[in-house]
Amino acid sequence: MKIAVVGTGYVGLVTGTCFAETGNQVICVDIDHRKVDKLSSGQITIYEPGLEKLFLRNQKENRLQFTTNLEEGVKDAQVIFLALPTPPGEDGSADLKYILGVADDLGKILKDYKVIIDKSTVPVGTADKVHAAIAKNATVEFDVVSNPEFLREGVAVDDFMKPDRVVIGTSSERAKKTMNDLYAPFVRQGNPIIFMDEKSAELTKYAANSFLATKITFMNEIAQMCELLGADVDMVRRGIGSDERIGKRFLFPGIGYGGSCFPKDVQALVKSAQEVKYEFKILDAVMDVNERQKLHLMPKIKSYFKGDLKGKRFAIWGLAFKPNTDDIREAPALYMIDELLAAGASIAAFDPEAMNNVQQLVGDKITFVHSQYDALHNADALIIATEWSEFRTPEFARISSLLKNKAIFDGRNLFDLTQMEELGFHYVSIGRKVIDPS
Ligand SMILES: NC(=O)c1ccc[n+]([C@@H]2O[C@H](COP(=O)([O-])OP(=O)(O)OC[C@H]3O[C@@H](n4cnc5c(N)ncnc54)[C@H](O)[C@@H]3O)[C@@H](O)[C@H]2O)c1
Repeated sequence: MKIAVVGTGYVGLVTGTCFAETGNQVICVDIDHRKVDKLSSGQITIYEPGLEKLFLRNQKENRLQFTTNLEEGVKDAQVIFLALPTPPGEDGSADLKYILGVADDLGKILKDYKVIIDKSTVPVGTADKVHAAIAKNATVEFDVVSNPEFLREGVAVDDFMKPDRVVIGTSSERAKKTMNDLYAPFVRQGNPIIFMDEKSAELTKYAANSFLATKITFMNEIAQMCELLGADVDMVRRGIGSDERIGKRFLFPGIGYGGSCFPKDVQALVKSAQEVKYEFKILDAVMDVNERQKLHLMPKIKSYFKGDLKGKRFAIWGLAFKPNTDDIREAPALYMIDELLAAGASIAAFDPEAMNNVQQLVGDKITFVHSQYDALHNADALIIATEWSEFRTPEFARISSLLKNKAIFDGRNLFDLTQMEELGFHYVSIGRKVIDPS
């Protein structure tokens, strides 16, 4: 099939590459000239495990091309995916200007029947709005389908190639057939393609992300209770996770969820609820708790340094909002960096993939180093903000010898409490007892 993907960011590039990988002819469109030039010359623009190999192979086979010209990109396509940003507007609702802007342009340039697919996360009713924006100028038939994307950054290629399910919202039999053909290679193991109406598909995506954000937040609240009552959240997690109704996944407490999806999608669902005069109370609480959680370690750090962080130096391991990505949108580390700098501290940070992105944001306000151990030189304490695998079994003797104080503030519960006790660290984690050798 001939496919156009409009918007070549995390979702668009993965979508385009994976469809090319199953033999389709794909053109990705983006307004960012630098991005398109880079991709056209064979350089990948994001870090996503496994993506580069597929990207290079399909580009070599001429199945994957890039352009800034929308008309040229969609001319021969049978289906057009919209993988455009839907950032929060000033009031927190999803801003549809990118989607509706492209829909408006599409209406003017469509020359034959096409299926236009919303892959972006969009509020209920957007398929109708996209339809209306195209219909304003279109002289040909077309269908608008909602096909929300559930891939996770860090495992996006696997998620796309082997999705748990594909959700498709459409009331058109013609579009349904096209979508079924398109996704058939991805569900050979029997995972379902679930067809529904457009509105239910749109709401499914918000419901999924809001539920997951709630699950994480619930565990963060349990972790708070563990700290106050002297219980161990790891034990509680294992105790409840073995109940099939609860499940083992997404029960790990930490310093809050971040990323480009959960924060904005929870906020957008709350806003959608307000628009229909419904108070979505759980999600209000989820947002509040998560804001607080991002800075959960700060009072503990301050108290260790007797309330004065001026002139103190901190090593930070991990900047990305989660491991295996260079995405730093809403990353808890950024909130901690702001707080530490405001308190007069200095920072040396290391992240395997996200340092360039953070440097673009904060410039030389913090120091970026080449290895996790370089960050420890002359540091008063170590803060762990992202659970990259390489941080899990570090050389503790090296950490001890480089740090001025043997103090670790771990926002991701990477280390064993007994081991920390034996090694004599002051070790603070989330929802577990504080190890204090003094
Ligand atoms: N990132 C994720 O993990 C993820 C997962 C599922 C769903 N989503 C949703 O998918 C959508 C896209 O997210 P993303 O993370 O890929 O965003 P992104 O910011 O990484 O990419 C968006 C791309 O669209 C381009 N763009 C903007 N206006 C354009 C225009 N008029 N024409 C062509 N290109 C244009 C931008 O230059 C950018 O490259 C959002 O709605 C998001 O909520 C994201």
